[in-house]
Amino acid sequence: MNPSNGPGSIRVAPSVLAADFSRLAEELRRVERGGADLFHLDVMDGHYVPNLTFGPMIVGAIHRLTGLHLSTHLMITNPEEHLEAFVKAGSDAVIVHVEVCPDPAAVLRRIRGLGVLAGITLDPETPFALVEPFLPLADVLLVMSVKPGFGGQAFLPEVLPKAARAAQLKRAQGYGYSIHIDGGIDLRTAPLAVEAGCEVLVAGSAIFRSEDPEAMVGRIRRAGESVLRP
Ligand code: DX5
Ligand code: ZN
Repeated sequence: MNPSNGPGSIRVAPSVLAADFSRLAEELRRVERGGADLFHLDVMDGHYVPNLTFGPMIVGAIHRLTGLHLSTHLMITNPEEHLEAFVKAGSDAVIVHVEVCPDPAAVLRRIRGLGVLAGITLDPETPFALVEPFLPLADVLLVMSVKPGFGGQAFLPEVLPKAARAAQLKRAQGYGYSIHIDGGIDLRTAPLAVEAGCEVLVAGSAIFRSEDPEAMVGRIRRAGESVLRP
């Protein structure tokens, strides 16, 4: 049992990467109707990760299409150079990879200074010790449960001890971050993630590639919350 969360505390963040961009407005509305709490936006530069996605222009378009919180996950080698553009475009949280920041504390402070939530994340093979010193400055800790770069990959359960450690530290130290998990989240893996201490379930393929994306948002949330009930 995960003692840090009660029933009703799990949030679902559809990852827009898996949506059909040719009818984005409709895709976003559908999952909003299903009770999505926020959107997760994957920015890839073809450098930190082999894939390319979108930049601030599309984040701005998404911002005009929805009132929901936008959590922007920067999979780019030079996040410091683009923070302002992503905030201006409408991001409510900006999440950077610890692996690319020579001074993660300074980057997190800068993000907060821009008036949005500051998030930090790490690849599955990156040791938790690398993010630990920066947790007091983080509003979001994103645990990557696939190798970043592509949607639709299989969940890596070996990252769950990182979520558990983050939850334990949060309780012990009174840290303010929320714990997100990203990659391979579906009806089967959502309970494992929540059990470990995750509070925000990011899901792309499982939602947008399902037959009923609207219903799937609630189904994933309930699957996660099922381990919180006695
Ligand atoms: C992977 C991205 C994820 C991705 C998750 O690099 O960070 O956000 O969209 O997609 P699924 O849910 O399909 O694994
Ligand atoms: Zn992501």
